[in-house]
Order: sequence, then C-alpha cells, then structure tokens
Amino acid sequence: MYGASVDDFDLDQEENPEQLANFEARIARGEKIEPGDWMPSEYRRQLIRMISQHAHSEVVGMLPEGAWITKAPTLRRKLILIAKVQDEAGHGQYLYHAAETLGATREEMLDALLEGKAKYSSIFNYPTLTWADIGTIGWLVDGAAIMNQTMLARCSYGPYSRAMVRICMEENFHKKQGQEMVILLSQGTPDQKAMIQDAITRWWWPTLMMFGPHDSDSPNTPILQKWGIKTRSNDELRQDFINQLVPDLQALGITLPDPDLHYDDESENWITGPIDWDEFWRVIKGDGPVNKERMAARRKAHDDGLWVREALQAYAEKQAAEAMPA
Ligand code: 3HC
Repeated sequence: MYGASVDDFDLDQEENPEQLANFEARIARGEKIEPGDWMPSEYRRQLIRMISQHAHSEVVGMLPEGAWITKAPTLRRKLILIAKVQDEAGHGQYLYHAAETLGATREEMLDALLEGKAKYSSIFNYPTLTWADIGTIGWLVDGAAIMNQTMLARCSYGPYSRAMVRICMEENFHKKQGQEMVILLSQGTPDQKAMIQDAITRWWWPTLMMFGPHDSDSPNTPILQKWGIKTRSNDELRQDFINQLVPDLQALGITLPDPDLHYDDESENWITGPIDWDEFWRVIKGDGPVNKERMAARRKAHDDGLWVREALQAYAEKQAAEAMPA
C-alpha cells in the first residue's frame, strides 16, 4: 500500500462500520497507525492537510531568518543561523516525506502551496526588521513550535510522530540559541535593550496566533482529538506557552505589549487580553504584512530549481532505460 497515490483512495467513501470500530479501538489502545494500515478517508485527508501545511511552514519559515545570514554580527552568529535555516529545510523534507506515505505527491503539495490553495503558518508573514528579531523568532516562534510539535510526537500516525522526535531535538537548539540572544541583548547597551523590546512587542501577539483559533472556533480539532492526531487543544498549548514565557521575559525586564495581562491565582495561569482574530484571519487569507513577498520568493525559488528537477528526471529515465532488458 505504501507509495500508493492519494487517487487510489476515495476520500469521500462511506466508511465500513466494522473497520472504523477496529480502527478507533486501535487508537484507544494507543497503537500507531502505519501507512499500509486501514484508516478512515477523513483521517488520511486531515493528515495530508496538516502535515503538508506543516512542511510548507518549515520551508517558507526559512525566508525570514535567511535574510539575515549575510548580516549576522559575528561569524559565530552566522554559523548558528546557517545551521538553523538548514535544519528547517530538512524538517520540510521530513514532513513532505511523511505526507507522501499517505499517498500525497510532492508535486500536488507544492502546486497547492504555489497556487495559494494551501496554508503555511501565519507567523512567517511578518517581517524581520532588526537582528533582535532573529533571537525573538528562535525563543518565541521555535519555542511555540516545540510546544506544538512535542504534542505531535505522540500523534497516532506513526510516520508523523517519529518525524517529530528528530525535529523537536533540533528545535530545542533553535530555541536555546534564540534565548541566549534575547538574554544578551536585554542585558546590553540601551540601544540593544530598545531593539529587543521592540522585537518582542512586534512578535508577541503573532506568536500566540500560531497555535490556531480558540478551540470554540477550531473546526478541525474535534476529529483530530478523537483520532489521536492532536492530543492537546489549541488553547491548552497556547496557555502553556504563555505561562512559560511571561515570567522569563519579565525577569529580563521586557514588557509584554498587553495592558490586560495579569496572573490569576485561582487557575495559576497568566491571562492575556483578547487576541486580534481579525488580523489572524486576514494574514492567513493572504493579507499579512509580507505574504506577497514570501510567496514571490517561494515561487522564484521553485522556478530557479526547475533545472535540478529536470536533471534528476532525465537521470532517472536514463537509469530506467539502462535497467531495461536488452
Ligand atoms: N497559520 C496558518 N493557518 C492556520 C493557523 C496558523 N497559525 N492556525 C490555524 N490555521 C488554519 C488551519 O489550517 C485551518 O485551515 P484549513 O482547515 O484550511 O487547513 C483553520 O485555520 C482552522 O484552524 P483549526 O484550528 O481548525 O486547524 P488545526 O486543527 O489544523 O490547528 C494547527 C491548526 C495548530 C496549526 C495545526 O494544524 C497543527 O498543529 N499543525 C502542525 C504544526 C504546524 O503546522 N506548525 C506550524 C509552525 S511550523 C514552525 O513553526 C517551524 C519552526 O521551525 C519554526
């Protein structure tokens, strides 16, 4: 079954009740579903949606930080940033391969992204205006991603959960290098302190939006939780992230851009003011600060890589022809 095309599956089929019951019993026992196993068509569709968009996020996510590789202030910082951006490309590869185990093809997934039909994380539609943004992305954005991806490491679909184990290990390096930068800048010169405060101010709310809409507005969460793809909800993960980051950032003398932020003794949670969901939906519908630039860069990279794909195709055809019996 593995390596089948998504066309081999009727994603709108009526499920066989007995097979569905067996599948759900496997999920309840905590078993991993593997590529060749029977699965509901909606399970397959949801995973292709989620994993391919995750992969798109990793590859588009290289753009904001990649812009600063040539402007890194020291050779050490340049080396760290190159390693991080390279990691993100690898994460994208891992995830596209995980989606391919469900029958999606690389071409279909990339076409969906390049034609604006597939999403990628809202967070990558914001500009990186100063060097402090690079540390902020490392600590906040990759920190939020780790929170989400640690959950996905327990996902019921085998290839996705296993991809997360490797990705989370590398993300921890991404987060730590960002945290180090934020700490250094927050203890630096007045200009450096102002630069990191400005970066956190710009990136705080868009990072909270990364976790997705509130659970009450999250149409996919119920089925994803029923079948063990998500084991935590958007709001649960967001709250964990807020509780972790607020005390750490405040300890550095950084002010969060939220006059309503307060600690609630009863729930032991930091409570934020309202998130601007109009901005969130505007950004994911393509009207964010730099959506057009990001997609233009992604399309140019794809076009520039055509010769590589053509060369690989020609080589594969030559290999196949030579393997044919005389
Ligand atoms: N950006 C873009 N679209 C988003 C979004 C976001 N931050 N949050 C939600 N959406 C979209 C969903 O894709 C869905 O649209 P669709 O049905 O057309 O795909 C719609 O908004 C409704 O949201 P739901 O909450 O119902 O969607 P999900 O249940 O899928 O939850 C999610 C959203 C939490 C992002 C979930 O899809 C998920 O966990 N995805 C896997 C992890 C991932 O993609 N992370 C992105 C960041 S990767 C990264 O940061 C790289 C790191 O190296 C920095």
